[in-house]
Amino acid sequence: MEKGRINIAIDGHSSSGKSTMAKSLAKELNFVYIDTGAMYRAAALFCIKERLIDGHEIDERRIPAAIERMYIAFKYNSKTEQSEIHLGGVNVEKEIRSMEVARRVSLVAAVPEIRHKLVNIQQRMASIGGVVMDGRDIGTVVMPKAELKFFITADMEIRAKRRFEELKNKGVESTLSDVLNNIRERDRIDTTRAVAPLRKAKDSIVMDNSNLSIDEQFDFLLNHARKVMSDA
Ligand code: DC
Repeated sequence: MEKGRINIAIDGHSSSGKSTMAKSLAKELNFVYIDTGAMYRAAALFCIKERLIDGHEIDERRIPAAIERMYIAFKYNSKTEQSEIHLGGVNVEKEIRSMEVARRVSLVAAVPEIRHKLVNIQQRMASIGGVVMDGRDIGTVVMPKAELKFFITADMEIRAKRRFEELKNKGVESTLSDVLNNIRERDRIDTTRAVAPLRKAKDSIVMDNSNLSIDEQFDFLLNHARKVMSDA
């Protein structure tokens, strides 16, 4: 690892604002931002398109062969100045934010073969350092040796309101109670699944941002990052 090019893991609950923070932190430090939630959402979209999901059931027998055909990658878009997620070479950045994908993603993210495939890709991307990666198992499974780990959370109702506003601004139709139910259900599945459940890594720094402004959150993370980088 090049000096100072540490890896930063950011885990936490759904809609806790992890991605916003991870993105800003990566930009400030000139690091690469990796949104692993987008990868699981793309995998969910793949399973929907391949008709591997029926109601609340996923056809696990067909998964191993099907995921051989699942190509998920980030490509830089110079117009938006962001890395965007592609599935089979097609930009699915917008499609993966739909409520249909949100409703299915925890189910898909609990399938061991899918986690195995995506974790491999994530570890490869982090191998050279200088990465800010956000998700649920980053500090515990994907980058257990990351130099800096954060665990971000907030009150469930506050998270639902934030997500609802975000969807509204993006023109995605939803209701507050739908969003709240979805977050409650995702928290439940994410924390109770058998493989890589959402857990705070022992060595992670907790930030509850229920009552923090965006600037306060950013300063908190950046101060920790600068300190660790100066010691690295
Ligand atoms: O961060 P997000 O809400 O976009 O994540 C979407 C889903 O993907 C979430 O319900 C849990 C799952 N996920 C996961 O299991 N592991 C990760 N590292 C990231 C996301």
